[in-house]
Amino acid sequence: MTPTQLFRTRIAGIGSYLPEKTLTNKDLEKIVDTSDEWITERTGIRSRHVAADDQTTSDLAYVAATKALEMADVSAKDLDLIIFATVSPDQMMPSTACVLQEKLKANNCMAFDLTAACSGFIYSLAIADQFIKTGAYKNILLVGAEILTRFVNYQDRQTCILFGDGAGAVVVRRANDNEDSMIVSHHLHAEGAYGNLLSLPSSGAAMPPSHENIENNKHKVEMQGRELFKQAVRTMAGACVEAIESNKLHTDDIDWLIPHQANIRIIESVAKHAKFPMEKVIVEIENLGNTSAATIPIALDRSIRNGKIKRGQNILLAAFGGGLTSGSIYFKY
Ligand code: ACO
Repeated sequence: MTPTQLFRTRIAGIGSYLPEKTLTNKDLEKIVDTSDEWITERTGIRSRHVAADDQTTSDLAYVAATKALEMADVSAKDLDLIIFATVSPDQMMPSTACVLQEKLKANNCMAFDLTAACSGFIYSLAIADQFIKTGAYKNILLVGAEILTRFVNYQDRQTCILFGDGAGAVVVRRANDNEDSMIVSHHLHAEGAYGNLLSLPSSGAAMPPSHENIENNKHKVEMQGRELFKQAVRTMAGACVEAIESNKLHTDDIDWLIPHQANIRIIESVAKHAKFPMEKVIVEIENLGNTSAATIPIALDRSIRNGKIKRGQNILLAAFGGGLTSGSIYFKY
């Protein structure tokens, strides 16, 4: 341990939630000029979940968080911090973290939203690890939750086929002496020069929502898909290699790689470039689509609950997202 690393961080509980309603590729065929075959072949996605009209991002997060707290056996009132990673918050102010804090009655903590798009969850985990390592906090709730389907233009066949809604939550706490769980490393990056590849233009002070902006769909996600694809492979494969080299590992030392779930072809290219066999790569995209900040905690939750990921195993998380943001977390579960 380094001199500043007084304590180790343990993933103590995890949960996820997917809204009931689904939108299949066949459904999309009725909305835009596309086909089930094209979407499945180019993205690996067949269906995605869509929040009900009366559900908010904090509602989705609440269910996931409740499951994570239950698994961790941590009471909401014992939380020291809530970090809510999202690019589809309930609203800009108050933060969705504060909305969730109130829903959970987690009255003794600090809470904030984190905007790093699809890398939001790994950014949050790295921040939480710092608070635990230094001894400042003991129990932290991390959430990655999105209702991106409300920000997608259903006339744009390039983007509307990709995104789904969902939430994942993780409770991390200070590891006890007899537990060998720990976050081993985090390497996080940002490249603002590529910000134009994925944006939500009319969502802030630079271009406030107006009749004109809404008529021009400026309140919906804009994406340069082909270029983003290249950057996704470059950044996520680079993040895997960086984690492996800096920890002096071999891919054999890693039990599971969980990459951000944007597109099966991106995931396969990352695995190939980083020399990971696909048998070691967790893929949860077929029926979920891209849930942005939620993809990694949802995939982690499903893999822990279905017994794939076990205590003591070494897990590598790799993400990229709008910003661009990217990076990795390497941890012993
Ligand atoms: N159905 C049918 N045809 C389509 C569709 C569609 N839904 N979308 C595009 N096409 C067409 C295009 O118009 C184009 O036609 P043309 O050759 O006549 O011009 C053709 O298919 C090929 O288009 P490409 O853009 O080259 O298709 P590509 O194979 O790159 O797939 C895709 C597009 C799926 C968007 C891909 O580029 C991709 O996945 N990019 C990354 C997107 C992404 O991951 N975004 C989010 C990441 S960050 C985050 O998660 C927040």
